[in-house]
Amino acid sequence: MTSTLTSTAHRLDELHRSTDRRDRFRLPAGVVYLDGNSLGALPSAVTAVVTDVVERQWGQDLIASWNTHDWWGAQTRVGDAIGAIVGAAPGQVVCSDSTSVNLFKAIAGAPSLRPGRTVVLTDPDSFPTDLYIAESACRTANLTLELVPPAEAAQRIDELGTDLLVATYSSVDYRTGELWDLPGITRAAHAVGGLVCWDLCHSAGVLDVALDAHEVDLAVGCGYKYLNGGPGAPAFLHVAHRHQGDFRQPLTGWNGHATPFAMSPDYVPAPGISRGRVGTPPLLSMLALEAALTAYDGLGLADLRRRSLSLTGFLLDCLDVLVPDVAVATPREEARRGSQVSLRHPHAYAVVQALIARGVIGDFREPDIVRLGFAPLYLSHADVLRAAEHLAAVLRGGEHTRPEHRARATVT
Ligand SMILES: Cc1ncc(COP(=O)(O)O)c(C=O)c1O
Repeated sequence: MTSTLTSTAHRLDELHRSTDRRDRFRLPAGVVYLDGNSLGALPSAVTAVVTDVVERQWGQDLIASWNTHDWWGAQTRVGDAIGAIVGAAPGQVVCSDSTSVNLFKAIAGAPSLRPGRTVVLTDPDSFPTDLYIAESACRTANLTLELVPPAEAAQRIDELGTDLLVATYSSVDYRTGELWDLPGITRAAHAVGGLVCWDLCHSAGVLDVALDAHEVDLAVGCGYKYLNGGPGAPAFLHVAHRHQGDFRQPLTGWNGHATPFAMSPDYVPAPGISRGRVGTPPLLSMLALEAALTAYDGLGLADLRRRSLSLTGFLLDCLDVLVPDVAVATPREEARRGSQVSLRHPHAYAVVQALIARGVIGDFREPDIVRLGFAPLYLSHADVLRAAEHLAAVLRGGEHTRPEHRARATVT
C-alpha cells in the first residue's frame, strides 16, 4: 500500500512541477514543515536583502535612504506586491502595522463609507484578536456587534437589510481550515448596500482570493504566514479604489497625512490608500517581506491553489490508508477546504510534540486540534506522505503518551 502512495506522490510532484519553488527556501534538512500558516519558512532571497539594507542602506547611506532607496514608498510598493497576490490592482493595498491594528482601522473606518448604518457582523469562532478588535472598534465607533457563524451570515445579512454596516469574516477558519464563502457573503452584503471586510491571514498566498473580481470592499492580512515575511512581519490593509475618497480611518498618524513633511497641526488624510498609513513603519521587516514576496514571481495563484488542493487532498488519501481512525476536522470537499488539514485528537498537544520530535512541524490549537498548514511553494507530495507515515508511527507506538510530549510551552 505504501509503495502505491510513494508512486502517487512521485506522479503528483511531477504533475505540479511548475509550481515547485522549494529551491527558493531554506529549510533544515529532514524537516517537513507544516507550520507555514503560523510562521512561513525563510526565503533565500531575504538574507541578502536584509544584509544590504542593514550594511549599505542603513550603515552607509544613513538617513538619505528614505529618498535614495525609497524607504518612504515601501508601504505602498510592498502593498502593491501583496495586492498582486490577493488579486487587487495597484493602489489598493498598504503594508503597515499588524493585522489587529488594520482590522481596527477597517471596522472603525467603515461608517465613513456607509453613514447611519450600525451593525457589524462577525464569527463567534474568529481568531481571538478579530473578536477583541471588533468589540473595541464597535465601542469606539458606537456600533453594534453581532456574532453570527459564517454559514449563517448571508441569511442574517438579508434580515438586517439597511442596518448592516459591515460583515467581517476570516476567509479560512484558523482552527479547522474550513474555507468560507467569500464571494457569497460579499454578494449578500452588497445586495443590502453593506460592506465586507475579509481577514486573509490564512488565505493570502495560497488561495486565489481575487479581491477585485469579487468586489471586496475592505481586507486585512498578515505578512508572516504564507507570505513568508518573517517573525513579526508587517501586515496589510486593502481598501477598494471606489471607497478610498470617503474612507476615514481612526488612527490619524502623520504617515497617513496628505503632506506629512509640512508638519501641519491639522490632520488631512493622504489621497488614495496612503491614508491607511499611521506611523513610521518597521523598514527592516518590511523590506524582508518585499524580498520574500519575490518567491511568487511568475506564479499564478490559480495554479498554486491547485497545487495546495492536491497536497491537502493527498494527505487525506494517505490518512485513509495509514491512519484510517484519525478524526479529520477539515472538510473533504475542495470548495470548502483552505490550505490546511486539521485533525482532532484528545491528546492533540502531545501528538504535535511527538511529530515535532520526528521532524514534522505542525502546531496545536485549543481544545483538541492538530493543525497542519500547507505552504504549496515549498511542500511536496513526498513530504506529505512522510508526514502521514510519521503520524501513523506516533499513534501506533503511543509516542504521544510520553511525559516529555505533554509539558506545555508558552507558544503552542
Ligand atoms: C485569522 C487571524 N487573524 C489575525 C491574526 C493575528 O493578528 P496579528 O498579526 O495582529 O497578531 C491571526 C494569527 O494567527 C489569525 O490567524
